[in-house]
Amino acid sequence: MNDTHPGSVVSGPLRAWIRARTGINITEQNQAPVELALRLEAQRHALDPANYLARLLGGVLPPQAFIDAITTNESYFFRAQDQMRVTVTRLIPDLMRRRPGQPARLLSLPCARGEEPYSLAILCEEQRIPPQAVEIDAGDISATCLAAARRGIYGALALRRTDPTTVQRWFSPQDARTYQLEPALLRRVNFHQINLLEDAEAVLGRRFDVIFCENLLIYFDSETAARALAVIGRLLEPDGWLFVDHAEWNIPGERFHMQELDGCVGFRPRGAVVPARADHSRGDIVPGATSVPHGTGRPPGAATPLPSMRQTGTTTPRRLAALAAACPAPASAPLGVDPRLAQAEAHYQAKRFAAALCSFDAVLTSRPADARARLGKARVLADCGEDFEALEVAEALLHATDAGELRLSPPDYVEALVLVALLLHQKGLKDLAQGYLREVQRRAPRHPSLGLLHPPQTPS
Ligand SMILES: C[S@@+](CC[C@H](N)C(=O)[O-])C[C@H]1O[C@@H](n2cnc3c(N)ncnc32)[C@H](O)[C@@H]1O
Repeated sequence: MNDTHPGSVVSGPLRAWIRARTGINITEQNQAPVELALRLEAQRHALDPANYLARLLGGVLPPQAFIDAITTNESYFFRAQDQMRVTVTRLIPDLMRRRPGQPARLLSLPCARGEEPYSLAILCEEQRIPPQAVEIDAGDISATCLAAARRGIYGALALRRTDPTTVQRWFSPQDARTYQLEPALLRRVNFHQINLLEDAEAVLGRRFDVIFCENLLIYFDSETAARALAVIGRLLEPDGWLFVDHAEWNIPGERFHMQELDGCVGFRPRGAVVPARADHSRGDIVPGATSVPHGTGRPPGAATPLPSMRQTGTTTPRRLAALAAACPAPASAPLGVDPRLAQAEAHYQAKRFAAALCSFDAVLTSRPADARARLGKARVLADCGEDFEALEVAEALLHATDAGELRLSPPDYVEALVLVALLLHQKGLKDLAQGYLREVQRRAPRHPSLGLLHPPQTPS
């Protein structure tokens, strides 16, 4: 696969620049979206990539548009649903009892296009927690994301895990494909442009009771993740809670310890007082939540995250049950095919993209190494115009297969190559697409996509 990157412009200096500006660790596995961003930005400035790069790295061009283009902003409402539920049903009510008159302070960093903090705001509304009792702040490095977050307009993908009643209650249809969030909810979240590694403390200027830092540490190498956690440690109240995605649970033990509350895993600053726990049946306070041994970074029985692979969601039994309820298995499926995968593929064939994505995510939650589900997810994302995310998933899949971490059948491998090639071709990056097409030609000499190969190929 390395020869599919003949004209790669993602050089060492560019990787170093990205790491210095954002913390994101670009490797061979995730360089395709960067490559795409670079070429598109170069086109936008009417420069060739090398020239654009020289100006970007030389500080002649402002960095923000490029940073916005390379960040992966995939998110959706109620993604970290267990942590959100615990925050709204347990942590906020406890704080309201212990600190009457003082608002609970929540931070969603990174917040992408606002899906996470607005989910918290919706849950607060539904629990009848008034705005003066909770302050929700949210931040992201991407200016484009923050502008979208402030508008509060979302499509079906962002709402793929939101039940229709909730959509009906809190969103109004904007057009055939998008929904506008209620203005009252827009007002419940304060958005800030923040680079977690640089200016989070200066911008926010205070501590928080609960911090959601979901799906960011996974993009950092261990040294950068440690720096990020040091910042989060300073932003968190000494008895606060940090929530990260389960693929990020391998947080080093010196600063935080893992704790479970109501079947949900969070992290507490070391030395934190074990929290008082409300016994809702009697309305009084009982001794606290359960600490989880820290050694492996996972509670006993949790799935082992694969190294260098992004995963979706958490694998707590409750979450699996919720996913199972949201995406019921079909009544019958061909023998030997996972019914949930078959269902996902059926949704995809029928162009029910949100349902397909939801089902592929459900498969990946229980079986992160399911290569076919990853390919399915990449296809859905591509069909929905989420090209960067699609490229990220498809390219990581190809690399993980090359490295022997995942198993993809030969025809599916070719389909993943074709998907990457088509995405690049469609974006006008035809030379880059050619490398992938040549690999397709080697493996499947009659593949219809080879019509895009230059010089045109005639099957022999
Ligand atoms: C995959 S999204 C996660 C959003 C949300 N927390 C979730 O779990 O759905 C990752 C986000 O991190 C942001 N990001 C990347 N580097 C960052 C940094 N150094 N500081 C703040 N945000 C950053 C990106 O712009 C992107 O929106």
